[in-house]
Amino acid sequence: MAGNWKMYKTAAETSSFFEKFLPLVERSEHCEIVICPPFPNLPAAVEAARGSRVAIGAQDLFWAKEGAYTGEVSAHMIRSVGCSHVIIGHSERRQYFGETNETVRKKTLAALDVELTPIVCVGETLEAREAGQTDAVILAHCRGCMSGLTPEQFSKILIAYEPVWAIGTGKTATPEIAADVHRLIRLHTRETFGPEAAANLHILYGGSVKPDNIKGLMAQPEIDGALVGGASLDPVSFASIANF
Ligand code: PGA
Repeated sequence: MAGNWKMYKTAAETSSFFEKFLPLVERSEHCEIVICPPFPNLPAAVEAARGSRVAIGAQDLFWAKEGAYTGEVSAHMIRSVGCSHVIIGHSERRQYFGETNETVRKKTLAALDVELTPIVCVGETLEAREAGQTDAVILAHCRGCMSGLTPEQFSKILIAYEPVWAIGTGKTATPEIAADVHRLIRLHTRETFGPEAAANLHILYGGSVKPDNIKGLMAQPEIDGALVGGASLDPVSFASIANF
């Protein structure tokens, strides 16, 4: 279960979240929990989560190791503050910040280089879904973002299916719609990286996941977890998702 905090919370709010959240998930051993705060609050989050079963991730990175890239943050820097995960290619980055499949691919490789687990996001817009192009978009995202990865590298990544029309809109994909796309991703994985990679791949669903719809989603064998935005900002609500 991964929480994507987007551009919310100060350092003080980060620490107070963990004070309330950690006792609530102490016993939820059935899943891994990752929280992804904004860059400046990563050290506070790592500190607050130390010794707990909650891992910390960033929401993006830049692929170069270092250099004259004003405003950017490298995989190595994220690793060096104690993060273990990083979200790559979120639809908001594709939509507002020019992220493409090629930049997602480069960032994924940069994350793998320093042993950060990439959570690679794919997903179609409402227009694409209504035009019957969901499968084509998802396959293009998977091909574009994963091309050139070895099976060994691929085995280290998580994929998040996030239909853009379901993000922050309150419209969750039905468990069946989500499972259909997850099946497609797994099929593509099988063809590209083999049956073992397909069986071991963890695919998260994201888009208006809430405490009251998590059970239905997780009842689908194809859905291995969730990437949660809005509902991960509140400790009680994210704990009830993690404890589904
Ligand atoms: P949401 O966001 O849960 O607020 O819809 C999900 C995401 O963008 O990862």
